[in-house]
Amino acid sequence: MVKLSLFYLAAVSVRVAAAYNIDARQVSGASVGTSAGSPATQTSFSFTLATNNPTAVPLASIVSNAASQATHTLATTYAPGSTPTVVSGAPPLPNAALLAPSNYPALDVVVPTDSPEVQQWIQEVNNSGVAIPDFAPTVASGACGANAAAAADQTRCWWTCTGCVAATDITTCPDKLTWGLTYDDGPSPYTEDLLQFLDQNNLKTTFFAVGSRVISFPNILQTEYMGGHQIAVHTWSHPPLTTLTNAQIIGELGWSKKVIKDVLGVTPSHFRPPFGDIDNRVRAIAQAMGLTPVIWTRISPQATFDTDDFDLHSGLTTASHVLQNWDYISANASLINTGFILLEHDLFQQSVDIATGYILPDALLHQPPFKMVPVIECLNKPLSDAYVELNDNSTNPPPSGSVPSASAGASGSSGGSGSSGGSGSSKGSAVATAGLPGLGAVFALLMAILAGTTLLLS
Ligand SMILES: *[C@@H]1O[C@H](CO)[C@@H](O)[C@H](O)[C@H]1NC(C)=O
Ligand SMILES: *[C@@H]1O[C@H](CO)[C@@H](O)[C@H](O)[C@H]1NC(C)=O
Ligand SMILES: *[C@@H]1O[C@H](CO)[C@@H](O)[C@H](O)[C@H]1NC(C)=O
Ligand SMILES: [Zn+2]
Repeated sequence: MVKLSLFYLAAVSVRVAAAYNIDARQVSGASVGTSAGSPATQTSFSFTLATNNPTAVPLASIVSNAASQATHTLATTYAPGSTPTVVSGAPPLPNAALLAPSNYPALDVVVPTDSPEVQQWIQEVNNSGVAIPDFAPTVASGACGANAAAAADQTRCWWTCTGCVAATDITTCPDKLTWGLTYDDGPSPYTEDLLQFLDQNNLKTTFFAVGSRVISFPNILQTEYMGGHQIAVHTWSHPPLTTLTNAQIIGELGWSKKVIKDVLGVTPSHFRPPFGDIDNRVRAIAQAMGLTPVIWTRISPQATFDTDDFDLHSGLTTASHVLQNWDYISANASLINTGFILLEHDLFQQSVDIATGYILPDALLHQPPFKMVPVIECLNKPLSDAYVELNDNSTNPPPSGSVPSASAGASGSSGGSGSSGGSGSSKGSAVATAGLPGLGAVFALLMAILAGTTLLLS
């Protein structure tokens, strides 16, 4: 059944025939093909890279049906009780082997709200004093077209469909050419390959971890944290948050905070809404729970800093298209007066292959140079500010008052409904104008497949 679903996804995708011309110094590529009939679908992609990794997986092999590769094993694992050296004052590392999945909600489905834990977090949100706007959840997985009134309501400040940002949203890094590096949806078996590349190049990133994946791979999360990467929340089951009730949003964020604390001993202070799906109701709940939202840079509805690497696994995009996206992003990143944050993933082999084989090697040679650091560092804050228990509470004050209103001149805001959605799926293409219909469901399917696979592997 699962296999049939995957074939279905591959069958609806646009396939391209590709020809590449690669040498050690210059990589350029172009591909042509026929689309599935939509005149708006681009079928030819071009890009130029300064270099690629000598051990890169060939682009022609970064496809949805790619044979599973052996992953590197973790270079370092840490004994229970180890003292973190990268964040001062951090408590000893918990014993990941004691993590009992039966103490947590089922993986990859929206958490139930009747548990004592969620009921307590609801009470804490009520006690926080943060006013939660009384907006009804969005429908149809948060698709913009199906929620025109919500998208047009500027008091909602719904980023997904309008690009509206609030003063508390982190969408860029303040300093020009500084890249707040992020990888989402892990930990996964492929994270180990990414970590190896990052280690070899002295790079640190921010990992937005899905709670369900932390249950599956607690040791990988510990290695990320102990290596000085920033760990942040990406919900329990990866739903579009504006579609949930207040109680469900509290449960999704609360369980993710809890499992990360149980595995690391510290609680993240930042989160990324899946699909970038955030409005003032989600913002208020997150604020009441001590979580600052991090989205990604959007300089116009057509230029969202989303590589679309997530869609390589399903076959909804191609390696050459992702590299063209990267080419545009890196060129645009050099032009803007702030730094930037872009969307990439470590859940699937294909996303890690394109990052370690092509995007990161090219980025490291970029002229003028990019400064590549975790988001917390790009904000010129110490790594300790990434964790509730370790920050000094001056730069990350505890929640109070009401959620800040939308900032004027929100970058990329079209102020209306139906604009391009930075959905984590479609980057700046005509396809994106439809919003994210069914993406939550597709995502859940892919996550469930991975969970099933990894159960067999591990
Ligand atoms: C939280 O506050 C709302 C509105 O102020 C109220 O209706 C609800 O009963 C409260 N819930 C709890 C658990 O106290
Ligand atoms: C910036 O991004 C847009 C949209 O992806 C693209 O059309 C444009 O060519 C990019 N700018 C540069 C200088 O590459
Ligand atoms: C900051 O606040 C958190 C949560 O209330 C607390 O655990 C921590 O000890 C505080 N940090 C300091 C330095 O007071
Ligand atoms: Zn995600």
